[in-house]
Amino acid sequence: KREGRPPREVAADLARRIDVADLCEPIEIAGPGFLNFRMHPEVLAAAANDLLADPHTGIDQAERSQRIVIDYSSPNVAKQMHVGHLRTTIIGDCFNRVLTASGHTVIPQNHVGDWGRQFGMLIEQIADENLDLDALDRAGAEALYKRANERLAADDAFADRARARVVALQSGDEATGAIWSRLIDVSKAGFNEAYERLGVLLADGDIAGESFYNAMLEGICTDLEARGIAVVDDEALVVFADGFEAPAILRNRHGGYGYDVTDVAALKYRAQTLRADRIVYVTDARQHHHFELVFAVARKAGYVGDETSTEHVGYGMVLGRDGRPFSTREGTAAYLIDLLDAAEEHVTRPIALAAIKYADLSNQLQKDYVFDVERMTATTGDTGPYLQYAHARAHRILTRAEAERLTWDEVTVLTEPAEQNLALLLSRFGEIVALVASDLQPHKLCTYLFELATAMSVFYEQCPVLKSEGEVCASRLALCATTRKVLATGLGLLGIEAPNQM
Ligand code: ARG
Repeated sequence: KREGRPPREVAADLARRIDVADLCEPIEIAGPGFLNFRMHPEVLAAAANDLLADPHTGIDQAERSQRIVIDYSSPNVAKQMHVGHLRTTIIGDCFNRVLTASGHTVIPQNHVGDWGRQFGMLIEQIADENLDLDALDRAGAEALYKRANERLAADDAFADRARARVVALQSGDEATGAIWSRLIDVSKAGFNEAYERLGVLLADGDIAGESFYNAMLEGICTDLEARGIAVVDDEALVVFADGFEAPAILRNRHGGYGYDVTDVAALKYRAQTLRADRIVYVTDARQHHHFELVFAVARKAGYVGDETSTEHVGYGMVLGRDGRPFSTREGTAAYLIDLLDAAEEHVTRPIALAAIKYADLSNQLQKDYVFDVERMTATTGDTGPYLQYAHARAHRILTRAEAERLTWDEVTVLTEPAEQNLALLLSRFGEIVALVASDLQPHKLCTYLFELATAMSVFYEQCPVLKSEGEVCASRLALCATTRKVLATGLGLLGIEAPNQM
């Protein structure tokens, strides 16, 4: 329209000017003005062969390697990890793997809730019950939490003592600190058990919980008040940020520090001390406003500069089969451990994990998803186990070929459309991973792997592998071997294992 010429004429003009002779056959003009690019089979074969040599070389490396902080998992001490923590742990682990594979330095930060108000009531309850801390296990800590929480609501004197106890903890009272640290240990053991079971990368060294920032809080308040960025409002010290109605609270009117100021301190530490270029937070979508506010405050304070990006990746809820959110109160399976158990009742652990992780990652993250074990563990359809199955199938063909003393070296023949389509998809692997690294949308990698598995099964149907001969057979085996490697590598980036047998 802008050129004032018929589209086919513009297309022909473009076709003359675009120089892709090294990659494609002469460009064809089709229909009302489409340009068709038909890749040279040798180019596709070369791309496949690079992946066959090492699928990781196929992952586009970032032009500039960044230092990327990912804040994920971040469960709360003395509480069991719930379904929400399952999602952040799985999503964050996937980001960690994808960004690392893309050439970045990832610094995981497990912002464990180890400093909040709950410790006041927990420690008071322990004192009242004269509880033996050495005998306290995770279930015990959980039950303790419930008892303390009930009393908090019913008993005002207890609530007062609990508040005073938080102040004692935050100001470094030794006896209080000793009980606190025991509670931390019990919880940490539980978190690690869950991480190990989930097969995620988090380790003790990644923990930088809320308590870690305690020493910075007073300084931040003094600094921001001195510079006029923080103001006293209704006896509390707060920061108003442009575009936000309510301010961020640095110090409440009782002199206590909370979630907001701790996150401001964490941002300062991550930008200035960890020298992060990019800071990513993975929590449920409901915390979006909180993060936007603390990002704005940290920027206003100059703690985070323009050269550092901050992103909140919010995810939706996990729903039961009745379409309602799992909730701890209604007594349905809401704890992470229960969900894992439920899935493992149907299938073995690697398959159960594939089912859960894939269900978590294969939809747009902001969407809620239904935890339907039957559907998630099916080996047909768009599921993790289906992809594992496709991988195992490729492995089985290669094992059979080996048993028949067949050998393969490289992809050399790409004459059938099904072969070409498979090779074309393989060549896109690196680009897809790069997309996930920039957009943080793992469902794009899931969709790609599902398409790849589907293309592979079309290829099997239309192109006999073991029954073909000579160079064709060797080339098709090489294509199977490449697909197997890309499936395994791609699943690996999602945090999903690719067993050789199902
Ligand atoms: N502990 C919080 C929760 O369970 C999540 C913390 C997220 N990270 C952060 N820096 N605030 O909801």
